[in-house]
Amino acid sequence: MAVSTQRKKILVFRELPPDQLARLQVQHDVTVANPRLAGQLRAFEAALATAEGLIGSSYPVDEALLARAPQLKVISSVSVGVDNYALDALAARGIMLCHTPGVLTETTADTVFSLIMATSRRIVELANHVREGRWTRNICEDLFGTDVHGKTLGILGFGRIGQALARRATLGFGMPVLYHSRRPVDLARQAPELAGKAAHTPLDELLARADIVAAVLPLSDETRNLMGRREFGLMKPGAIFINGGRGATVQESALLEALEQGRLRAAGLDVFATEPLPLTSRLRTHPKVTALPHIGSATVETRHAMAVLATSNLLQALAGELPEAVFDLPA
Ligand code: DGY
Repeated sequence: MAVSTQRKKILVFRELPPDQLARLQVQHDVTVANPRLAGQLRAFEAALATAEGLIGSSYPVDEALLARAPQLKVISSVSVGVDNYALDALAARGIMLCHTPGVLTETTADTVFSLIMATSRRIVELANHVREGRWTRNICEDLFGTDVHGKTLGILGFGRIGQALARRATLGFGMPVLYHSRRPVDLARQAPELAGKAAHTPLDELLARADIVAAVLPLSDETRNLMGRREFGLMKPGAIFINGGRGATVQESALLEALEQGRLRAAGLDVFATEPLPLTSRLRTHPKVTALPHIGSATVETRHAMAVLATSNLLQALAGELPEAVFDLPA
């Protein structure tokens, strides 16, 4: 691979921290234009026509957009998920896609575990009870939560984040873990601390046995709409459902139905089929739903680490070097 020091045109389509933007500006000609802002759309489109590198996140980079970027060589996503990108079109054009695995694993697992705690112990509801001046006598059983420690946790998706979640559950809370993934993970080799504590389990059996089901799945043809009416129907009465992966892996109408029929105790959701969550969505105000605005990786430290990795990926790719985190595009 020939190493290049030539200045290239880069389009930043979502704000980067100033120190990372400066790293790009030292070596390349950078345009910052956010296509979500009406006032910047024109500048975005103009820069797209000559950009060799794109960096940003949370914006659909589809075939139509790629067609307007004839010089494009590399996209560096400030995310681990790559569902916003037209993967086949990138592969066909030989455009490299980089992403940010690893640096957000623990923070995202923290977020998912906080949803497990919040739903089980009714944290948001009871904090509002105090805030709204309704704590006028000791609470009664109708406001009690349910235990987390010792409960069986079913994890859908057992990559880095699923395994980090399992560590919290097994090592911190004594929870037996069942997990569903395409293939069993060789825990003795890859995560010895989980060996004997987390069991690869067929989906239907996991749903029937878990007290809490947490999905941390990426979105793909295989996982889209995975949790529907049949699957929610298989869950234990009174179980809790958490989603910290991608919203479109869940049929939201089926989830609402399961909550309304009283089959599920609660749901904790960080991700939705449409984001930001439309004001008309019943999930926004449903009393049994704890909804977060997709904050899985949203801490100061982790978002900065993601920006650093994404910036390094882009600089390395434009220099003709192999970046740290290249996503394997379909062959
Ligand atoms: C990710 O990195 O994929 C997070 O979900 C943010 O989009």
